[in-house]
Amino acid sequence: MKFYPLKVKDIRIETSDCVSIAFDIPPQYKEVFAFQQGQYLTLKTVINGEEIRRSYSLCTAPAEGDVRVAIKQVTDGKFSTFANQKLRKGDTLDVMPPMGHFFTPLSQTHQKSYVFFAAGSGITPIISNIKAILTTEPQSICTLIYGNQRVSTIIFKEEIEALKNKHLGRFQVFNVLSREKTESDLLHGRLDKNKIAHFLDKIPSILRGDEFFACGPVDMIEAVKETLFAKEIDEKRLHFELFNAPKTSPKKEVLAKTVNSHAQIKLDGLTIDVPIDKGQNILDAAQMVGADLPFACKGGVCCTCRAKLIAGEVEMQANYALTKEEVAQGFILTCQALPKTEKIVVDFDIK
Ligand code: FES
Repeated sequence: MKFYPLKVKDIRIETSDCVSIAFDIPPQYKEVFAFQQGQYLTLKTVINGEEIRRSYSLCTAPAEGDVRVAIKQVTDGKFSTFANQKLRKGDTLDVMPPMGHFFTPLSQTHQKSYVFFAAGSGITPIISNIKAILTTEPQSICTLIYGNQRVSTIIFKEEIEALKNKHLGRFQVFNVLSREKTESDLLHGRLDKNKIAHFLDKIPSILRGDEFFACGPVDMIEAVKETLFAKEIDEKRLHFELFNAPKTSPKKEVLAKTVNSHAQIKLDGLTIDVPIDKGQNILDAAQMVGADLPFACKGGVCCTCRAKLIAGEVEMQANYALTKEEVAQGFILTCQALPKTEKIVVDFDIK
């Protein structure tokens, strides 16, 4: 998966610390940048001499014809600060084609109920899904439970209101605020287990949802999962996407299982030989010999570094991105995978 140089077509200020950025897609890249709702782009640029990559979710639906991501500024975030303060219309960024599985196939004939939980900038892939559903499935309904600190930090506030008005009766929204007074108890606080359980009690129709989507920090995702599983919602009906997880060193028990290894890495039809030290992950080892493997978060979250393990065994330190099915098929996150056998073969070309 390679990067393409794309010009920034538009920068929109969404809140005081969030911008959305649209790219100009030249005709020859139209097909490469065709996307599904809820997918993300990996962006790359050089900031103060350092190459920085980050993944950001698309906030538009495919039918809008606008390839646009939202970037919320995070404290000490190199890329997010650059995007919010320095990036200008007409600048060029290197962009990887859309990736990710945070969506479900849509059909005009569906009559489904979709329930979305979002916190902060977790709204980005959620609004992409909601817009796609509301326009593609005229008989489906959407419910959004959206947690923020205050009204002023609600990203896409006007757009959400406009969608509600346009699709009257098919889209209901509950804004939950943690640092501002609200009209009811239900709408005040954080989206934790108690709050989500409170919603399920007060609005039982939520439990009749056909598909559930959650995007936000790990605590919120866990709270949604636990609360829904306690109500016997099948995990196949729950889709989730996590914010960046912190980069951690391998735990002792993981390290104990690993060995010095030798990897054959297949990428773009070529095979690269990579020595891997005990305790080192495949991606880091490959970078040390100059291999240009795809990656973004290095935290087990974004899935950009996904590849298939063809031979040998690995131990993954963290996996917030691959589904159970993908793991059963042999897919691994190379930024998290430490070899447990002296030889491994990894293929990036198998999708
Ligand atoms: S680089 Fe993001 S999961 Fe590996």
